[in-house]
Amino acid sequence: ISVAVLSGGPSGEHEVSRASGKAIRDHLDPGRYDVVEIVWGRDGTWPDGLAATIALLGTVDVVIPALHGPGGEDGTVQGLLELAGVRYVGSGVKAGAVGMDKDFTKRALAARGLTVADDLVLRPGDEVTDDHRDGLGLPVFVKPARAGSSLGVTRVDDWSDLPKAILTAREHDPKILVEAAVRGREIDVAVLELPDGRLKAGPPLEIHTGRDFFDHEAKYSDAATRFEIPARLDPSATALLQRTALDVFDALECRGLVRVDFFLTPGGHPVVNEVNTFPGFAPASQFPRIWAAAGLSYPALLDLLINTALG
Ligand code: DAL
Ligand code: MG
Repeated sequence: ISVAVLSGGPSGEHEVSRASGKAIRDHLDPGRYDVVEIVWGRDGTWPDGLAATIALLGTVDVVIPALHGPGGEDGTVQGLLELAGVRYVGSGVKAGAVGMDKDFTKRALAARGLTVADDLVLRPGDEVTDDHRDGLGLPVFVKPARAGSSLGVTRVDDWSDLPKAILTAREHDPKILVEAAVRGREIDVAVLELPDGRLKAGPPLEIHTGRDFFDHEAKYSDAATRFEIPARLDPSATALLQRTALDVFDALECRGLVRVDFFLTPGGHPVVNEVNTFPGFAPASQFPRIWAAAGLSYPALLDLLINTALG
């Protein structure tokens, strides 16, 4: 089976994607797969140009778009793969586009009856009023609508720090969210689509960080960050989180895989923070570690994703 692994790309998560792509390449069984690695440039250029890349992609059996962030995870590349007529791992255009945009993700999930954090969406020129501030309370989290790996995210504990946080988020996206903080444990649930179409949720993973929140440093460079798998939860909380993650997969019409990031409130209610239609795939990342804890090795996880994509 010939497989193309795509990584890199012009988003702020270029390096994270390179690490995901490298890990995927390293774990694809060479006895089973012929692998071609394609690194999309940080400046948006493709090796030998877009036309040559599309021609190459058109010759493989399956593509693994190990891309994170706008351009690669938001349906753009998936549209190109659709046009090239090649099968690929993971969600299609719509789930990618909706899942990449925290504003639209939350609208789709709220319409399904799922709980998401209160927020204020700010487009360029929008003002924050006293009523907004009173409604949200402190702290708030200021986030670009479309970015990942906590890039551009600031926790604001004093309203005087809001303008700077807005500017920081706007470096990544003109549309930003000012979100009310949710008190609760931070728990990720991974979902896989099996080749027969059934869905499976993995054991919940709890994030322990010594930092103010699970920011970019906590994700990629703080040795004190710890993942606990399975999270210490009673069976009913585990079942509720898993059921809700499957509901999210279904509501967004995902394909192949998704990682749903939750807050679990002290009262035991899951609040969906965000989704990742192509979550981090470095060996230390949550998604492969969750499945390893469930007894599915990294190479076996790749076999499953490819089998599902090949239908
Ligand atoms: N956006 C990063 C890669 C993640 O969610 O794992
Ligand atoms: Mg994310």
